[in-house]
Amino acid sequence: MNIEDLCIFSSIIFFVIAAVVAGSAAWLGRGLSCVCAQRRDFEDQPSFELTPAQEECLHRLQNRIDIGYDSSIPEHQVQSLKLFIPEALKALWHAAFPGEQLYGLISEQWKEMGWQGKDPSTDFRGGGFISLENLLYFGRNFPKSFQDLLQKKEGDRAMWEYPFAVAGVNITFMLIQMLDFEAVKPRTLVGATFLKLLTENESAFDLLYCITFKLMDHIWLDMHASYMDFNTVMKATRHQLERELLQEDIVRLEDLPSYSLLSR
Ligand SMILES: *[C@@H]1O[C@H](CO)[C@@H](O)[C@H](O)[C@H]1NC(C)=O
Ligand SMILES: *[C@@H]1O[C@H](CO)[C@@H](O)[C@H](O)[C@H]1NC(C)=O
Repeated sequence: MNIEDLCIFSSIIFFVIAAVVAGSAAWLGRGLSCVCAQRRDFEDQPSFELTPAQEECLHRLQNRIDIGYDSSIPEHQVQSLKLFIPEALKALWHAAFPGEQLYGLISEQWKEMGWQGKDPSTDFRGGGFISLENLLYFGRNFPKSFQDLLQKKEGDRAMWEYPFAVAGVNITFMLIQMLDFEAVKPRTLVGATFLKLLTENESAFDLLYCITFKLMDHIWLDMHASYMDFNTVMKATRHQLERELLQEDIVRLEDLPSYSLLSR
């Protein structure tokens, strides 16, 4: 080996070592930032272990989700509302159309609200009973936004609009999936983050629902969407929501940027 070869050889060795060192530093850095992020979000809990209070909260929400809607069991009570199903449906009607009489729990009138048929229960299947609670919470707490969406008041609307109530059930269903609430413990960072907010305020799921509905409509208008695009809009809504929930400075749902879209 002459001196020139030796030079080339040693610089190759140098590059290989440098690359390995740089690579492992980057790898180490990634590992560290991951641990840090979890430490910051969950204080002293490195994984998604739940406190007893969080566990109880999750349990209560899971119970709400598990109550399927069944119109043949009218004595079925909505715990969180302290209402029986027929009363809850009537309350929803009055939130949607104050002063307008509902002629029966099964009635063509429901179509005015964007149910597919004259019996809302057939549309509740996907989201279950909790979707009725969500809609009612929305109507009672943010009547202005609720009416805007129900009557399609804002923006340049599509020829083929999404039906209000059916979209509402769809949103409940999407949120349950996004937050992974059917699992025993949260398996995603979004789920765990939301559970902390829920433990601080039990209305968090209903409030998140209102924010999501309004955000979905906002994206719908932004995209000049029509009903064919509904699933695309829902996916975009979900991504936006996940991004917002994972922002560092979110202490309450009211801190989400999309909260400002809602009006009472
Ligand atoms: C949500 O909407 C999509 C598109 O219209 C539909 O395919 C799906 O069945 C709906 N899901 C529920 C739970 O309503
Ligand atoms: C929980 O959140 C709701 C909706 O923002 C709010 O009206 C209520 O005051 C909150 N409750 C507590 C105990 O903070």
